[in-house]
Amino acid sequence: MSTTGWGNFWQDQRQSFYAVMKMATSYFVSKFEKQYSLKPTDEIFDYGCGPGFVADSLAGRDSKITGADINDFFIAECRKNHPGGQFMVITTNTADNKKILEEQLSGRQFDYILLLSIIQYFKSSNDLDEVIDLLRGYLKASGKLIIADVLDENTSSIKDAFSLLMHCIRKGRIGAFVGFISYLMFSDYRKISKQNKLLLFSEETIRAIAASNGLRCEKVNGLTLQKSRSNYVLSHAAVK
Ligand SMILES: C[S@@+](CC[C@H](N)C(=O)[O-])C[C@H]1O[C@@H](n2cnc3c(N)ncnc32)[C@H](O)[C@@H]1O
Repeated sequence: MSTTGWGNFWQDQRQSFYAVMKMATSYFVSKFEKQYSLKPTDEIFDYGCGPGFVADSLAGRDSKITGADINDFFIAECRKNHPGGQFMVITTNTADNKKILEEQLSGRQFDYILLLSIIQYFKSSNDLDEVIDLLRGYLKASGKLIIADVLDENTSSIKDAFSLLMHCIRKGRIGAFVGFISYLMFSDYRKISKQNKLLLFSEETIRAIAASNGLRCEKVNGLTLQKSRSNYVLSHAAVK
């Protein structure tokens, strides 16, 4: 995996669209907790954890959280806010990440591995294949690897913006929506997205990647706020 425009963009980000990202992540966590009846003892690895919004949303539940991200500022925030967790800086290179994870995780395995809202920033579907190949060894036999907020050919930015707007209105956070839209219009995000289209993954591609890594794949509805995006749950084939 090489560093693309998106990789460079995210490595340098400080605040980006924090308010909306935090709301969307907190929505995901509430659905995820309910759907999987999360236990306090469940071990979670948040791959591409950003500033730690999953950890923030789970705070108080005492779930053991581990996170990794390519942005060292985000990882510093995670460490500051969640001193009981384990957070590591990774790179956009899977071979390097293999070594980092071996050193940092030393054989640990997780009940849940999350890839929330990150794969659209990969360079190609081959990058996802490499990451799944890397992560599957860290998944318990009964564990689930959740790939959420996936953009595909049915994703519509208008529909997504509408679901976000409705949520912001319900939460009385219309300012967050306005901030998000201005960010999209006037920041480097707009410039980068013109040069590097967000990556779309069809259901067929996700299923093929799961199969090539010996994993089962289930498509799950309703885990994320943006309704025209998809979510997949991968698990070891032998476990029902
Ligand atoms: C939209 S944010 C989502 C953050 C977090 N998962 C959440 O939902 O709150 C995208 C995150 O993906 C990370 N990211 C981008 N490319 C990545 C890569 N190749 N490997 C790991 N993380 C990556 C970024 O640094 C950023 O923190």
